[in-house]
Amino acid sequence: MQSQNKIYVGDNLSVLMGMNSRTVDLIYLDPPFNSKRIYRVPIGTPAGKKEAGFDDIWVWSEDIDIRLEAFLDKYPRLFRFIGSAGEIHGLPMKAYLTFMAQRMIEMHRVLKETGSLYLHCDPTAGHYLKIMLDEVFGKHNFRNEIAWAYKTGGVSKRHFSRKHDVVFFYSKGREYVFNLQKEKSYLSHKYGFKNIEILSDDGGTYRYVHCRDIWDIPALRGNQPEVTGYPTQKPLALLDRIIKASSNEGDLVLDPFCGCATTCVAAHRLQRNWIGIDVSDVAVDLVRDRLTDATAQGLLKSDDVKKEVFTDFLATDKPPMRTDIVKTKLKKPQIKKILFDEQEGVCNGCKKEFDLPNFHLDHIVPKSKGGGDYMENFQLLCGNCNSIKGDRPMEYLQYRMRIQKNLTPMY
Ligand SMILES: C[S@@+](CC[C@H](N)C(=O)[O-])C[C@H]1O[C@@H](n2cnc3c(N)ncnc32)[C@H](O)[C@@H]1O
Ligand SMILES: [Zn+2]
Repeated sequence: MQSQNKIYVGDNLSVLMGMNSRTVDLIYLDPPFNSKRIYRVPIGTPAGKKEAGFDDIWVWSEDIDIRLEAFLDKYPRLFRFIGSAGEIHGLPMKAYLTFMAQRMIEMHRVLKETGSLYLHCDPTAGHYLKIMLDEVFGKHNFRNEIAWAYKTGGVSKRHFSRKHDVVFFYSKGREYVFNLQKEKSYLSHKYGFKNIEILSDDGGTYRYVHCRDIWDIPALRGNQPEVTGYPTQKPLALLDRIIKASSNEGDLVLDPFCGCATTCVAAHRLQRNWIGIDVSDVAVDLVRDRLTDATAQGLLKSDDVKKEVFTDFLATDKPPMRTDIVKTKLKKPQIKKILFDEQEGVCNGCKKEFDLPNFHLDHIVPKSKGGGDYMENFQLLCGNCNSIKGDRPMEYLQYRMRIQKNLTPMY
């Protein structure tokens, strides 16, 4: 049987769009934060040998309007919110939020009804992202705003030191997997605790309490064995806690911005299946090294997980194809007739009326972008609209229509 564990090299949007609905138990994502930085790795580290890194600079371009307009029908509030955020914070933020919204919608679709999502961000854009999550997941499915607090170098004299990241935890529905996690709580004295187990270690006397939403997990330091040198690499301890809390053994964990595969390694160690996606092929090379040579890097004690398990994954740059949508067996003229009635003889682009023979059958999501021959993916366009759209997504045609009507693209 083919392994469920996969690394996809490529834009996570195409991969997510090709995944079947309701198949994933847990999603952790640590996207670029709109930090206006270019991340490059230190020379001499495993990542440095591969010149890994990525840009986190967002610039506005016309085609972002096209993407944003795609939300207009289904998510009008999201559309308006991103527009307002762009007015308040500027066009680069609007570009970033548009990028994130497209992916959030797909992530929500691929999650099982009992699944959860953890979005890791920082205070630069976190407040906007939370509103978007409220809209896509439903505000009642908000579970936690986790502050991951760390002590790294670098301080400012003009404000308090910024030493935490934010992780938003949303479930897809009311019934979701959640395994309580405990942490040590150090005590100033050990008296007066009845029926509570009091323990001690080098740090002092402690008891176990339910984890709070403030997580004191040390950030990675250069000399730790798990450090690959990949910029923004997260500690395995952080992912261990998330994966243990919100999934069970055998579940499927997805990280659509997997970087050097911290989530994949943590999931593997905890006997979960996993899928990692990263646009950078350098990152993916690193993943391969990290997974296949995990024992050598001191990531795992050899008795933790058998080393050969780590070769049990597939790395590919081909996005998957959805198989949960039934391909239609109807012939072209039959499909056209059904759509003609559904669209009431009106072109889906210019909204003008035509006779049936003048309509062209169009794939809404082009086949080259993962769209298939299923009814939901067909529409009728007039000859003119069909030639404008060509092999592009519907957003492009809508954008061109607005320009033709002398309307400014909405945002
Ligand atoms: C903040 S890093 C993730 C670090 C990761 N959590 C780790 O521990 O290594 C963000 C990653 O997102 C990737 N990325 C950015 N845009 C992407 C896209 N559209 N599709 C897939 N990956 C993307 C970057 O290449 C980078 O590796
Ligand atoms: Zn038309």
